[in-house]
Amino acid sequence: VRNITSGPSMEILPEAKLEQANKLLGGLVLSDESVRKIREIFIDEINTGLDIHSEKKSCLQMANTYVPQLPDGSEEGEYLALDLGGTNFRVILLELNNGRQTKEIVKFYHIPDSLRLGTGVDLFDYLAECLHQFLEEHERLQDKFTVGFTFSFPMYQRSLSCGILVAWTKSFNCSGTVGEDAVQLLNNAIKKRGDLNLEVTAILNDTTGTLVQGAYLDKSTGIGLILGTGSNACYIEKADKVLSWEGERPADVSEVIIDLESGAFGDNGVLDFIKTEFDIQVDNNSLLVNSFTFEKYIAGKYLGELVRVILVRLHEEKLLFTGELPPKLLTKNTFTTRYVSFIEEDSINNKTENTKAILEEMEVDFDLEDVAVVKHVCFLATNRAAKLVSICLAYLLERMDRDNLVTIAVDGSLFQFHPRLRSLMETYIHSYAPKRKFALMMAEDGSGKGAVMVTAIASKLKQKK
Ligand code: GLC
Repeated sequence: VRNITSGPSMEILPEAKLEQANKLLGGLVLSDESVRKIREIFIDEINTGLDIHSEKKSCLQMANTYVPQLPDGSEEGEYLALDLGGTNFRVILLELNNGRQTKEIVKFYHIPDSLRLGTGVDLFDYLAECLHQFLEEHERLQDKFTVGFTFSFPMYQRSLSCGILVAWTKSFNCSGTVGEDAVQLLNNAIKKRGDLNLEVTAILNDTTGTLVQGAYLDKSTGIGLILGTGSNACYIEKADKVLSWEGERPADVSEVIIDLESGAFGDNGVLDFIKTEFDIQVDNNSLLVNSFTFEKYIAGKYLGELVRVILVRLHEEKLLFTGELPPKLLTKNTFTTRYVSFIEEDSINNKTENTKAILEEMEVDFDLEDVAVVKHVCFLATNRAAKLVSICLAYLLERMDRDNLVTIAVDGSLFQFHPRLRSLMETYIHSYAPKRKFALMMAEDGSGKGAVMVTAIASKLKQKK
């Protein structure tokens, strides 16, 4: 088996240049000492976040998701799920027979910038419009559906069917929505039209959807992880550790899915010691500056931009690309995370063709030294992301303290398309939690399908009452 966890070297560089480059990039390499420190801080922030009486405020929200149960194979019926959070809005129609997912229809709708950055009313009206289009296309306009809503932003939930938006993240920033209940906003938009027979009864985060879909696929699932446009995790916590209940905790609840909102880890400054000049620039170039620090080190929306910022800086120091830089490389967000994945593929296969094609696409003049440096930078960015996310997962595994294997269900394009993120994570999680048995499992579309499962579970429990 080829070892794909070691990175490409820059040995081709003359000694002085190599030394200078390593120095400039040194901050991106997390030492074992830093890893230990981040872990300690993470534990502290988790405990503070769960402690509703704490005077200190945690950067981790540790939100109660109010999911009443995991799938047990008795879910029935046909449900709609909506998935909002990344670059596309997804509508899913899924049928459950004896707990199995049978018929499935999925459709993607593009959400233009103008709607992501406009008013909340326009955004939710558009979502309702997409639902109408979807049902019309499948000649189901007359039918009544219960709807599950995956809303992948930090929320404060009062119940399974109430999610107050805490803040926007990633590429959304709509006015008039923070502090509002997203379920109500959507139900209002649906009612206002008067031509849809739908009711939204469950709201959840994409990590929660992924965990629940994971549990449908594999009963040992205990953690849900998103590595896509954004990054976040949730896990199963013992109910007696969770004090944030609106009203009384139902007597039969022994476990609760907690959404960490781990993308915000470090927002209170606790991780400033690992922040590099490149991270500061990525943050400054982002839509929502000074928020979601951790996510900006890891997620697909930012990894390519991080690499771009580093390349420009290396050029300034005369360590990369001779001549003027083309406007393309100087423009933010032109270097996508998909490029990072393609370049990493070269590194794994000892090739250069993807890297060359991308540099041509970016319109820079380059030689073989440049190719080696670019490959190295992509590895550094990837490797740091892998370590950071693994520190969190390793600790969650220890916290859950299960004797048996714990499956970590993962959804998101970064995880899906990066050629070695998974191997790196397996290596690091194992090294940070050597005694724990775990498996990473891709739960494709988990964020949306999980919403159907949660809605079905809620319906089932309602009928029983
Ligand atoms: C952002 C959101 C979070 C979501 C994650 C992945 O971090 O705040 O709710 O889970 O992106 O989409």
